[in-house]
Amino acid sequence: MENGHSECIFKNAKDFLTANYALIYQVVVAILSIAVLYKVLFSRKNITKRPKREIGISPASNGTGQKIDCVNPANGKSMGIVNSLKPDEVKTCLKAAQVAQAEWGQTTFDERRQILQDFIDMFIKHENELVEASMRDTGKTRFEAMFGEILTSCEKLRYLIQHGEKALKTEERIVPMLMGSKSARLEYHPLGVIGIIIPWNYPIHSIISAAAAAIFAGNAALVKVSEWSTHSKILFEHLLRKVLSNRGYDPNLIQILPGMGETGEALVRSGVDKVLFIGSPGTGKRVMKAASDSLTPVILELGGKDPMIVFDDVELDWALAIVQRGCFINLGQNCISSERVFVHEKIYDQFCKQMADKINSLKQGPPEEGHFDFGSMTMPAQVDKVEHLVGTAIKEGATLLAGGKRNPAYPKGNYFLPTVLANVTEKMTIFQEEAFGPVCTIVKFSNEQDLIRMANGTVFGLGCSILSSDIKRAERIGSKISTGMLTINDYGASYLIQDLPFGGCKESGFGRFNGPEGLRGFSREVSVLTDRFGIKTPVPRLIRYPIDPASVGIIRQAIYMIYQRGIVNKLRAALNFTSQVIKNPKLLL
Ligand SMILES: *[C@@H]1O[C@H](CO)[C@@H](O)[C@H](O)[C@H]1NC(C)=O
Ligand SMILES: *[C@@H]1O[C@H](CO)[C@@H](O)[C@H](O)[C@H]1NC(C)=O
Ligand SMILES: *[C@@H]1O[C@H](CO)[C@@H](O)[C@H](O)[C@H]1NC(C)=O
Ligand SMILES: *[C@@H]1O[C@H](CO)[C@@H](O)[C@H](O)[C@H]1NC(C)=O
Repeated sequence: MENGHSECIFKNAKDFLTANYALIYQVVVAILSIAVLYKVLFSRKNITKRPKREIGISPASNGTGQKIDCVNPANGKSMGIVNSLKPDEVKTCLKAAQVAQAEWGQTTFDERRQILQDFIDMFIKHENELVEASMRDTGKTRFEAMFGEILTSCEKLRYLIQHGEKALKTEERIVPMLMGSKSARLEYHPLGVIGIIIPWNYPIHSIISAAAAAIFAGNAALVKVSEWSTHSKILFEHLLRKVLSNRGYDPNLIQILPGMGETGEALVRSGVDKVLFIGSPGTGKRVMKAASDSLTPVILELGGKDPMIVFDDVELDWALAIVQRGCFINLGQNCISSERVFVHEKIYDQFCKQMADKINSLKQGPPEEGHFDFGSMTMPAQVDKVEHLVGTAIKEGATLLAGGKRNPAYPKGNYFLPTVLANVTEKMTIFQEEAFGPVCTIVKFSNEQDLIRMANGTVFGLGCSILSSDIKRAERIGSKISTGMLTINDYGASYLIQDLPFGGCKESGFGRFNGPEGLRGFSREVSVLTDRFGIKTPVPRLIRYPIDPASVGIIRQAIYMIYQRGIVNKLRAALNFTSQVIKNPKLLL
């Protein structure tokens, strides 16, 4: 009877659910939507609206130093002159940044997130202008600019918005039992003003990537851009200032400083609180020397000669597509470019042939004049360097399979044809020196021992990619190569995983940007020890001045009691400790 009754209820409920499935579904969706809407509408209510400010003129636009003629490297045409900042003008920028930071350092994470979200909106609204500004500055294609400047920047901002606060949250730290009435924690405070020096390969993304992390951690940012890609800063700095001033913040919080080496050195010496330098090892060493005069801490992200390793158990088309991106994305002007491709002897000839066929079939030309796979390189001297390295490699015995020279169709721009070199060996100059250009050098390997020695055999240690169907083997080989970043079966994807820190070892530098480590690197760590439950611990007579002659013996036995091995030893020390304390009971009070 009982049973039948409950069965009946169950059946009724089931019938009800089946009959009203659509209704129930709609109710659930409605409740969820209301919850999301509520969150969107009310979660930011604690941000007090500030009155808008004047956008003003950046102190960084006020230089009177050496004139930089901004030339579009794809066609050799000048876009205009920008003045470098002199050392005392850099100081003026710093003062303005310090004023901005004093106020910004007080903002909540909600306020900082709001600004970063505004930056994302700005990227989307002005996507085309920013893409074209980057193309004109660097000669890169529309695709490269969209991918390397806009997408990466939006992802960086999204990461900071969603996960940045976690990285900077105060951490509880362990206290030993004897100090149980204390509480220990680590706090992350703003450092002040971060000086950032970036190269010319990603003139938009490199600015926002570093500056957004710096300001999210409560700092101001002074970003010195390369004299080889300066022009886009006019538009970009204006857009950043507009966002900040519209929300009522001081637009001098992020300033973009044009100039040459002198301006960069002035920034390092200006009194900024930390320096992030991204560039060549040679300049990195000079930055560190200059920073040492004032003991300004530095993070150095220098060059690389990254190995890309291809085992014989991979599907060739798949591997070729990855290696082509590794070697030729942004025309190889990447610190994590695959500068040395190691291919197993079993597939070597076939791999080289197919690589050459593909590269020979692609088109290079002025990005603004049509759809091309490749644009121009950015810095004229870099074309010279690549030309020299490739020529030397051929003299040293490498086999040229594609490219190998400047593109004769476009003598006015910085065009070097995407190049494939086979039969490259570890003795060759190009095996050791960073090319930073569109060159795929393919080295043959036959056993793991040689492979590890060769892959590890440069002064650099930035990234490393390994392609193999045997993931265990790939990870085992990877763990033997000194590198800052290891990618299995992909290239450069870790750059879109913003939670992973970016950086290298050996002459590729030290310190990290991106990820929680990047945010903490822009913070002053403060170790705090305080009373738990408001209990003040008295200083016992044992360690109070004047020191009692009996103190040493008691502390010795305490050390034996706590740290000595063996229960008998501990007991003996405990007895000795107790008997000494009984003789001098006042010492523990
Ligand atoms: C820029 O320079 C002009 C004249 O040299 C000066 O009047 C102005 O205050 C400067 N602006 C900033 C933001 O430093
Ligand atoms: C490597 O060099 C040898 C000798 O010159 C040549 O026969 C061979 O084709 C080259 N390998 C490739 C992949 O080009
Ligand atoms: C890789 O190179 C570094 C120094 O450049 C060296 O310390 C390390 O032992 C090398 N690793 C292997 C497995 O040879
Ligand atoms: C405690 O140990 C010390 C040597 O460390 C010894 O001189 C002393 O006599 C001992 N005292 C007692 C009470 O055991």
